[in-house]
Amino acid sequence: MDAVERAIAAFVDRYGLEPELVATAPGRVNLIGEHTDYNGGHVLPMALPFVTAIAASARVDHVVTVASEGFDPARFSIGDHPASTDGWARYLHGVGWELADSGIEVRGWSGVVTTDVPVGASLSSSAALEVASANTFCRGVELDPLTIAQVGQRVENHLIGMPCGIMDQLVSAAAVAGHALLIDCASLTYRPVPIPAEATVVVMDTLTRRRLVDSEFAARRHDCEEAARRLGVTHLVEAALADLSDLGGPDDRLRRRARHVVTENQRTLDAAAALQSGDLAALGELMDDSHRSLRDDYQVSGPALDAIVDLARHAPGCLGARMTGGGFAGCAVALVTADLLDVFAAHVEAGSGRTCRLYPVKPGPGAAVAIPRARSS
Ligand code: GLA
Repeated sequence: MDAVERAIAAFVDRYGLEPELVATAPGRVNLIGEHTDYNGGHVLPMALPFVTAIAASARVDHVVTVASEGFDPARFSIGDHPASTDGWARYLHGVGWELADSGIEVRGWSGVVTTDVPVGASLSSSAALEVASANTFCRGVELDPLTIAQVGQRVENHLIGMPCGIMDQLVSAAAVAGHALLIDCASLTYRPVPIPAEATVVVMDTLTRRRLVDSEFAARRHDCEEAARRLGVTHLVEAALADLSDLGGPDDRLRRRARHVVTENQRTLDAAAALQSGDLAALGELMDDSHRSLRDDYQVSGPALDAIVDLARHAPGCLGARMTGGGFAGCAVALVTADLLDVFAAHVEAGSGRTCRLYPVKPGPGAAVAIPRARSS
């Protein structure tokens, strides 16, 4: 059973009737444009065909009671501050709180959360939870994807303490099936870019999970803000490569961070153009360059990520490969000639001693709300 079916079945089991709605939101894999979002740059993620699902029915009050596979059940009142809710349910409580704080009408609900998005794997399971829950709190009211994404980002920034950008929440809310989403994180505009059928995107989970990433993430963001301040630009992507030599310093750290951001932003624009014109070889090369830049200049890769990227690069059919998401552990992504997918997968699985998990994926749609058939008929 997939996440939607499990959520409905668990809801029926728990409450003895069908849920009023099922809200779904996908995880994402980023093709290119890493650590550019909070620097006012471009990103090119796509939604995964794996979703987080919430099966729920409205309550008359402002209380939420929720159960979830593998996590403790939770109960909270939306009007209380989310800091009073611990653990995974703080994401939900935070979304309700932030929506209400934006003047959007929210109501309580009883429900069940399930997910097929691997957790802690850099595939944005928390963004999927935030986006699905926003639609649950506002059932029937159409919120635009950017509003939903900004609510999720505020939850991360203010209530979880993760200073992320907008990419994960926005692609989860706004993705279009069959397409990657080119997002300009300065203007907050986006457009779908089709992914040709001759290429398969393969998510490669190293099954390593991240530790201390959030503090490393905050340190990178801090470096970027410091570099932008010294260069006199609002967003680091506005700096010209030629100006980066002004960023001296004993360990050359800020200059390398800035060089990653500026070159990665250009690579992302070039990648979108390559995708649009069907030049998959060019896209693959840009992904390879992105990995080197993240590993050497931005220093957010890790041994397991480097190893699987290297393995993939030498596998038949591979056009390009790189780490994806925040970094340090979790997943990498490869672009593979569709005809050679099986031999690619066999090579990588054997080479890793079967310590990885591969997911060939087609780009899925963004968040949705469905009314189960039994209720609507
Ligand atoms: C995490 C953050 C995103 C983005 C990526 C790196 O996924 O949530 O906002 O910064 O890392 O590109």
